[in-house]
Amino acid sequence: MQNKDDDIVIVSAVRTPFSNFNSAMADIPSIDLGVMVMKEVVKRVGINPGEIDEINYGICVLAEVALELDVPARQATLLAGFPAENISLTVDRACCSSLTCLRLGFRAIKAGEAAIAMAVGSENMPRTPHLAPGLRKGIRLGHIQLIDCLFELGYTAKGFNPLAKDAGEVALEHGVTREMQDAWALGSQTKYARAFAEGKYKIGEELMPVIIPQKKGDPIVIEKDESPRSTSMEALAKLKPIYGSPTVTAGNAPPISAGSSAILFMTRQKAKEKGLKPLATIVATVASATAPRAIAEIPAYTINKALDRSGLTLDKMDLIEINEAFAAVTMTSTKMLANDNEKKWKEIREKTNVNGGAIAIGHPVGASAARITMHLAYELRRRGGGYGVSVICGGLAQGEAVILRVD
Ligand SMILES: CC(C)(COP(=O)(O)OP(=O)(O)OC[C@H]1O[C@@H](n2cnc3c(N)ncnc32)[C@H](O)[C@@H]1OP(=O)(O)O)[C@@H](O)C(=O)NCCC(=O)NCCS
Repeated sequence: MQNKDDDIVIVSAVRTPFSNFNSAMADIPSIDLGVMVMKEVVKRVGINPGEIDEINYGICVLAEVALELDVPARQATLLAGFPAENISLTVDRACCSSLTCLRLGFRAIKAGEAAIAMAVGSENMPRTPHLAPGLRKGIRLGHIQLIDCLFELGYTAKGFNPLAKDAGEVALEHGVTREMQDAWALGSQTKYARAFAEGKYKIGEELMPVIIPQKKGDPIVIEKDESPRSTSMEALAKLKPIYGSPTVTAGNAPPISAGSSAILFMTRQKAKEKGLKPLATIVATVASATAPRAIAEIPAYTINKALDRSGLTLDKMDLIEINEAFAAVTMTSTKMLANDNEKKWKEIREKTNVNGGAIAIGHPVGASAARITMHLAYELRRRGGGYGVSVICGGLAQGEAVILRVD
């Protein structure tokens, strides 16, 4: 494919480490985590924030943001010291959000309404407060109820299932067993450990440090993802399923995390004018949705839609990132992409999440889509270029994908 001046290219991409549940990061409002990556992503390439035409800012767990009221996009933009004139938008498309932000910016640039756009995702799940409905009117008699909107993560209040239940059940219908899911989870941990040892998760590329000043003494500095752990098939097999799922456990699900990610993109022409070397070209962005129970299937549908949109084939993809919402999701979708052909399925798995995924790294839901996308770009660059697709599923079976080319 030939490079064109009106291609849209990523010029900078960064994320914080993803925290574990008890981390010092868990006390930092997601808005402040967002500010960190927003400042860093422009600083790295010397872009004046005043030149950014659109800042789209993705979140998922609204209850955490509610501690600071609302419009986190606007608040983060101002707190980052960006000009008051910057246009920003808060986006909630569940775990898809930060990739939705990329798609919206891509669309605005394509429409000629923007030249430079930023996609952000930020989440602090461990900080999510319990909700106490009814207090405003007063509790006349009886117990006060506290609601944990992190528990089960599944829209159960409105009659939908926990995501883990839907994912596990649908995976089994596709012949993706608990053992297969555990094997994928083990692979996620071992691939991450290998990639980490090889320096693929180092500060200065995908990662920036989080520095947390302390009242006394040195600041706490977080420079690496906090959740990866060593495990074994035996240890994974012992874990009990969660949230009524037949297969999903704490071992083959991602942990609950805090973290943020940001991607800066512009036309190739603009990058040239600024003397910036593109990290990747955005070839196509798509959104999708299907029946809410089919969360494990939506990445496959979404990748196929992105391939149709771009005129490319799966064989042309050198790397694939499928967010490990659960191992059940990645395994089911890769199997569907292979049309149940065992050999093809293995080939697809071998180029999927080659450096581990959310099961090891963590899944601060609103920030993960931008993470997998920047990781795809950096890994393609390390390999000398090529095509890749990143895809994420979001609550009630929504999907979002992007195809990238790295020259
Ligand atoms: C699964 C979940 C409930 C676990 O929460 P938790 O109980 O706080 O997690 P923990 O890390 O304490 O793990 C629970 C147990 O499993 C064990 N465990 C976790 N991962 C393991 C692994 N890979 N190998 C072996 N044991 C493991 C822990 O050691 C712990 O054991 P213990 O109870 O004996 O201490 C929580 O992480 C969760 O909800 N994840 C899914 C998030 C989600 O749905 N995201 C959205 C997807 S779209």
